[in-house]
Amino acid sequence: MRILVVGKGGREHALVRALAESPGKPEVFCFPGSDAIFSIAQPVEADGLETLVEWMKTHAIDLCVAGEESYLVKGEGLANLCEKNGIPCWGPPKESAQLEASKEFAKNFLLRNHIPTARATATETLEEAVSAIAGEYPTVLKFDGLAAGKGVAVCPDEASALDFLDEVFTQKRFGEGRVLVEQCLTGPEVSVFAAIIDDQYLIFTPARDYKRANDGDLGPNTGGMGAVASRRLVSQEILDQIEKEIVQPTVAGLRKEGLPYRGFLYFGLMLTPTGPQIIEYNCRFGDPECQAVMPLVRGDLAEFCLAGAKGELRSDLISFDDGWSVCVILASAGYPETSRNGDEITGLESPSDARVYHSGTRRTDRGTWETNGGRVLAIVAGAADRAEAVSKAHAAADLVNFDGLQRRRDIGILHFD
Ligand code: AMP
Ligand code: GLY
Repeated sequence: MRILVVGKGGREHALVRALAESPGKPEVFCFPGSDAIFSIAQPVEADGLETLVEWMKTHAIDLCVAGEESYLVKGEGLANLCEKNGIPCWGPPKESAQLEASKEFAKNFLLRNHIPTARATATETLEEAVSAIAGEYPTVLKFDGLAAGKGVAVCPDEASALDFLDEVFTQKRFGEGRVLVEQCLTGPEVSVFAAIIDDQYLIFTPARDYKRANDGDLGPNTGGMGAVASRRLVSQEILDQIEKEIVQPTVAGLRKEGLPYRGFLYFGLMLTPTGPQIIEYNCRFGDPECQAVMPLVRGDLAEFCLAGAKGELRSDLISFDDGWSVCVILASAGYPETSRNGDEITGLESPSDARVYHSGTRRTDRGTWETNGGRVLAIVAGAADRAEAVSKAHAAADLVNFDGLQRRRDIGILHFD
């Protein structure tokens, strides 16, 4: 089997590795990829989606796997173009990827399908937003579009809300778009992933993303400073509730509304005192949750995704390790506000009992590795119990270093029950 994975981050490094390690030993290609990914997948030259799909056709690609969301909604849409050209694609078409690309679309979908979510009002101007907030703080403001994880502000007071509204409506930091004013929910967050294939689904191991920059869940929001994954992260009772009240009505809603879906769907949830509520959909796996979850997947992920892309749910092909997986992110100086490139990374070969996925690195002419982005590396270790997975992951992370390295010491330790 020949697979092309689209994306370039730590999530894609984990996906490529999981696919490449599938028993059938598929040949894996990656676009645009990264230096680290190219040690296990072959690079692809393309200057746009059309040429990429043309390349897939001429190189007899059996399966395209969408890692990153942006390609799903670019131009005609990656999955749409694949479909037109008869290439099975694991990832939804553009119309369904609006669940991630437009927060307003997602909110209306949730409301139409009676899926528990926060109340929200769509606003077009700063004045409308202020009036929708109606003095109720904290409030949550969401830019209605893809903003690379930067488009959401949880505002404790009027001053922070006005700052965000000024960035959106006056400075147009994210381009043109509306703002959803949303009720602020409270409770622990959990990321649930399902493989959705038309009217069928399979729920993967749930994970928790540590979004804040500093220990104790303090500091600014980031793309994710680490993750922990385990079936035991949430109780069976809550998992059942999530399946019944959130996953099933989502799958039914997609069918009812004629939105085709074959691929991973990410349910960003908050376990509120009145039950799980959805805060966002993403039409892909999470990053860094993917790095934590993939090592728990047993069986043949490549065949599973190929069968799924062709419309068949083959739950018999994969299973999930019952243990714990902990992912510690090493970030560069200045992250999340900025990032610093060019710091030499040492100790990369040292962790023997952990997996190292590259998020933002570059291979130098001398064959060494240096930082090349905000999130640099994900160090992942697993064990049957949580404490052991935590100590293995942190011990492995201790062995890797670069100037300005930032990491959290409580990943996997800080718990939410
Ligand atoms: P999102 O980009 O939608 O994942 O939002 C980023 C983060 O903002 C989430 O992970 C939550 O921590 C927070 N957030 C989003 N929506 C809400 C909400 N309605 N209430 C409280 N926090 C929220
Ligand atoms: N971990 C958050 C995300 O992938 O959006």
